[in-house]
Amino acid sequence: MGKQNRRNFLKNTILIGTGTALAQIPGAGNERQGTDQEDLSIFEVIHKRRSVRSYTSTPVPEEHITKILDAARMAPTAGNQQPWKFLVVRDRNKIDELMGACILASVNAYKDRQNPSAEELEKYEAKIKSYLQNIFKAPVFIVVLVDMQSKWPSYNQFDGPLAAGYLMLAARALGYGTVFFTDTIPDQVTKQVFGIPDRYRRICITPVGVPEEWPETPAKKKLEELVIYESF
Ligand SMILES: Cc1cc2nc3c(=O)[nH]c(=O)nc-3n(C[C@H](O)[C@H](O)[C@H](O)COP(=O)(O)O)c2cc1C
Repeated sequence: MGKQNRRNFLKNTILIGTGTALAQIPGAGNERQGTDQEDLSIFEVIHKRRSVRSYTSTPVPEEHITKILDAARMAPTAGNQQPWKFLVVRDRNKIDELMGACILASVNAYKDRQNPSAEELEKYEAKIKSYLQNIFKAPVFIVVLVDMQSKWPSYNQFDGPLAAGYLMLAARALGYGTVFFTDTIPDQVTKQVFGIPDRYRRICITPVGVPEEWPETPAKKKLEELVIYESF
């Protein structure tokens, strides 16, 4: 099956519902169902992971969510403290509530920043809504948190992003897109909507879902610009 055909096939089948869909997917059980079922080497996974900001509403099976989280908890962590909490949100009402709160926060920030005319404000609101709707179509959101009451909280700044990175690579290996959101979904908004206790610090929030399409790789610096051998 060609790539495009396979994508269409998946779009048309997975939507039916997890149980039925699994049975209909060629290779079901090989745990590669997102948008491609090819076996990717770890290097391909790393190179093909992209920040995805436009999703389909295709469900992500529970077993895939578990597999992704199980990979995240294998990340290196200072003194093996494992300070993580992964808040998984699949409730459509909650996801929509988060989107509404993001739109409101963004519009209010724009008003404060620009003092726009009514017409400018309307234009901005339409633009931000359409941008966020593409993101919030994703069926799952995961908030990566660290517990500031962990054994060595000063190391949470390292442990947190490492787990987020593992999570994103695992999702990519299963064919799903993610994105390390910070400002796009403000910390305060996430805290309010999900009632996150003060002891937890948010590292990021990411959608997990089948991309509408995989983005092109953005410009990456050449290795020579980044590497120094032996000493400066
Ligand atoms: C610390 C950090 C913060 C980020 N915050 C946002 C964000 O708020 N909104 C967004 O759209 N992308 C955000 N990103 C994603 C980056 O824009 C993205 O990783 C970068 O453009 C490279 O693209 P790639 O991930 O596809 O390689 C963030 C990434 C990191 C590591």
